[in-house]
Amino acid sequence: MSDLLKLGVLISGSGSNLQSIINHIEKGALSARISIVVSNAPEAYGLVRAEKAGISCAVLDHREFSGREAFDRELIRVLKNAGVDLVVLAGFMRILGGEFLRTFDQRIINIHPALLPAFPGTHVQQKALDYGVKFSGCTVHFVDEGVDTGPIIIQAVVPVLPGDTADTLASRILKEEHKIYPQAIRYFAEGRIVKNGRHVEIRGVRGDKDAVLHNPPLEG
Ligand code: GAR
Repeated sequence: MSDLLKLGVLISGSGSNLQSIINHIEKGALSARISIVVSNAPEAYGLVRAEKAGISCAVLDHREFSGREAFDRELIRVLKNAGVDLVVLAGFMRILGGEFLRTFDQRIINIHPALLPAFPGTHVQQKALDYGVKFSGCTVHFVDEGVDTGPIIIQAVVPVLPGDTADTLASRILKEEHKIYPQAIRYFAEGRIVKNGRHVEIRGVRGDKDAVLHNPPLEG
């Protein structure tokens, strides 16, 4: 039990990615333990999900802190107290500062609902639609000092379809988020991630050269 990777999952909202991680752990598809869930939003539904799963929770309402540094310092304290090995940002809508990044150096990952480096930031499903891309998707990446700029661990691609709205695209993407986030954590738990600058290699996997997609599909 004690040598399981200990996760600190940070949320701000619904927590469906948190739920997927919980489900993967419960069904034995991911060897890790969620030590603590922290939300900066007291009303986040993810807190209910955590409580239902019997996971310790903390609410750090960012509005109650004098600034980002004070918030980050308390967050560091809470995560260290819980013995967290890997910080998992799952819909966490706050930027983390230098002290936090240094404290958990190489041990912070994030999921983003676009195919980075396209569409960093917020409202990215709408931005993808507005741009007219034929594919979007999601990305799990290490967190660095930029916004959604860190080295990429895994991505999933989904088509953008005629008639899509930001909501329909977001839910198509979210389904894939629920698969790639537990997978990325599993790579980490199994010690299979080899990071060399921006390049992340996963031990024991080979790319699939036939995994080519066309959208719209080729005819004939
Ligand atoms: C997810 O789509 C996640 O990728 C996104 O927020 C949603 C959270 O959903 N994260 C970001 O945009 C981070 N910049 P969830 O609370 O149901 O997991």
